[in-house]
Amino acid sequence: MDRKVLLKKDMREKQELVNIIMDRFLPRKDEYPKSLHKALRYSVFAGGKRLRPYLTLITYGMYKKDLEPISAVAAAIEMLHTFSLIHDDMPDMDDDEYRRGKKSCHALFGEGAALLAGDALLVGAFDLITRAEIKPSHRLQFVRELAQECGIEGLIAGQMVDIESEGKKVDKKTINFIHENKTAKLIRICVRFGAIAGGAPAEELKLIEEYGSCVGMAFQITDDLLDIEGDPNELGKSVGKDEHVQKATYPAVYGIAESRRKAQELITQAREAINKLGDKALMLDILAEHLLNRKS
Ligand code: IPE
Ligand code: IPE
Ligand code: MG
Ligand code: MG
Ligand code: MG
Repeated sequence: MDRKVLLKKDMREKQELVNIIMDRFLPRKDEYPKSLHKALRYSVFAGGKRLRPYLTLITYGMYKKDLEPISAVAAAIEMLHTFSLIHDDMPDMDDDEYRRGKKSCHALFGEGAALLAGDALLVGAFDLITRAEIKPSHRLQFVRELAQECGIEGLIAGQMVDIESEGKKVDKKTINFIHENKTAKLIRICVRFGAIAGGAPAEELKLIEEYGSCVGMAFQITDDLLDIEGDPNELGKSVGKDEHVQKATYPAVYGIAESRRKAQELITQAREAINKLGDKALMLDILAEHLLNRKS
């Protein structure tokens, strides 16, 4: 099968698996208080590539056939990611009206509901991990690591520096801090969890983590480039905004050509790392290649 077709088919199947878990875990829309469940379900099921859970599932799949045990962890990561998007769009952060091809959560449900929908998804993610049918010691480890990588010394810190850098000229150290923390850490942890729960040997875990770091960084650089060159209909979010509000982005610091080169270099490094693992890393390889040329 053609690599692109194979990826599309595999992603669709695994998206379905993640959607089912989230649907089962989240309260129904008509449960009390309706406004909370409506708002959070709206954002979770608005679309989204499900890249992060996909990474967890395919990495686990390199070591284990049955994906059921890890699927709750994968779904939890997607819930946490959706929290970050809901809050990211809010007026005092990026102030964006569109997300996943639809009105953003606060634009439709109001800021209070969006804030709480995000909170609920963030907290719910940890709850869901504790229910995963994996080793109890892994549950505890994943809760702690996810809190670290997404919290005070991770995603939240990256988002803080991101918003306070708006309108300022930032240096290379700062832009790397922002991208590493707001995006790359979560993406790295997706493959890390998949590999650990799957039982990857230490030397393989190291290569998989290198892949995660490189792909994570490249993903945010590409996101920055798509804000300049992308099509809003394909992306499902507005473009041109980063430059307009003078966001701290890779192209703003390095220029477009150098940003593209850097993304290419990172993807090459990611692929070289996991190609050492042989055939079982095929989907990781196809995905990395796809992410470099993605349009959405
Ligand atoms: C958007 O992530 C936020 C970034 C870290 C760049 P995605 O591009 O994965 O968004 P969805 O989940 O597909 O909507
Ligand atoms: C996303 O960065 C970081 C998050 C952790 C949500 P952006 O602010 O560039 O993401 P988009 O472009 O709004 O999706
Ligand atoms: Mg942002
Ligand atoms: Mg944003
Ligand atoms: Mg962006």
